[in-house]
Amino acid sequence: MAQTLTLNTGQKIPQLGFGVWKASEGECYKAVRTALDTGYRHIDTARIYGNEVDVGKAIRDSGIDRSEIFVTTKLWNSDQAKAQKAFDDSMARLGLDYLDLYLIHFPVTKTRAQAWKDLEAIHKTGRTRAIGVSNYMPRHLDELLSSAAVKPAVNQIELHPYLSQNELKTYCESHGMLVEAYSPLAHGQKVADVSLKPMAAKYGKTVAQLILRWSVQKGNIVLVKSVSPQRIAENFAIFDFNVEPADMGVLDGLNENLRTCWDPSQTP
Ligand SMILES: NC(=O)c1ccc[n+]([C@@H]2O[C@H](COP(=O)([O-])OP(=O)(O)OC[C@H]3O[C@@H](n4cnc5c(N)ncnc54)[C@H](OP(=O)(O)O)[C@@H]3O)[C@@H](O)[C@H]2O)c1
Repeated sequence: MAQTLTLNTGQKIPQLGFGVWKASEGECYKAVRTALDTGYRHIDTARIYGNEVDVGKAIRDSGIDRSEIFVTTKLWNSDQAKAQKAFDDSMARLGLDYLDLYLIHFPVTKTRAQAWKDLEAIHKTGRTRAIGVSNYMPRHLDELLSSAAVKPAVNQIELHPYLSQNELKTYCESHGMLVEAYSPLAHGQKVADVSLKPMAAKYGKTVAQLILRWSVQKGNIVLVKSVSPQRIAENFAIFDFNVEPADMGVLDGLNENLRTCWDPSQTP
């Protein structure tokens, strides 16, 4: 049974999710099948990743009951003025009866307010069980919360020891939103951090496992991607050890505001 957290909707969400950004067609199908066989029960895709068809097919072919798998997809920026159609199109590609979580991918200044209203309307139909946002900074969330009927269940942001996002995380949690940590390995850039090798060796783990475990212990939902069966298994094997408080402190001290993906901090 995967370790879960509880969203503000009451839904359980597996704390470790499997991301599929940059997994190409075919490659994505195989990776999701392998991930589900390994034990992952949470898949994170997006319209812009171009692999929703593969994700849906892999879920159906897995033979695992739909209710056991948590599925997220996202509304792309250029679709924000036509969210209902974009949602219908994503659902048709996924071939699923319902979605667990639908996110606004990025806070596009001109269109995000109407997009949230449209997500609220989709949520009301029950076709997605939760709605949320991604790459929102506090000012984007302030704006949203000032008129929202439904609070976002999550804010999905880049987060790893090298970009710890402490203020944003505190903001989200104080407003009842869980933080989803994307690019938890700094998009793969930090899996060979030599400074962490002795600490990882102490636990009999790899640097990647150590970094992922840090994020789990911080209470994040952690979304990691791999297309390699060996690394898919490696990234899943992080629930049989605990990083000690002193080592958590060392990892907390690694922040260097390293962004490997978007920087929404300048978006008005
Ligand atoms: N909302 C957003 O704007 C947003 C932005 C970025 C990402 N995301 C989500 O977050 C997910 C994860 O982020 P990410 O894909 O950017 O990066 P990531 O999970 O931090 O790192 C993935 C990279 O690291 C490699 N890797 C994975 N496990 C490894 C291991 N154990 N040892 C060595 N290398 C390893 C992968 O290569 P191999 O595949 O070859 O193993 C890949 O190149 C995405 O797939 C997506 O679902 C969302």
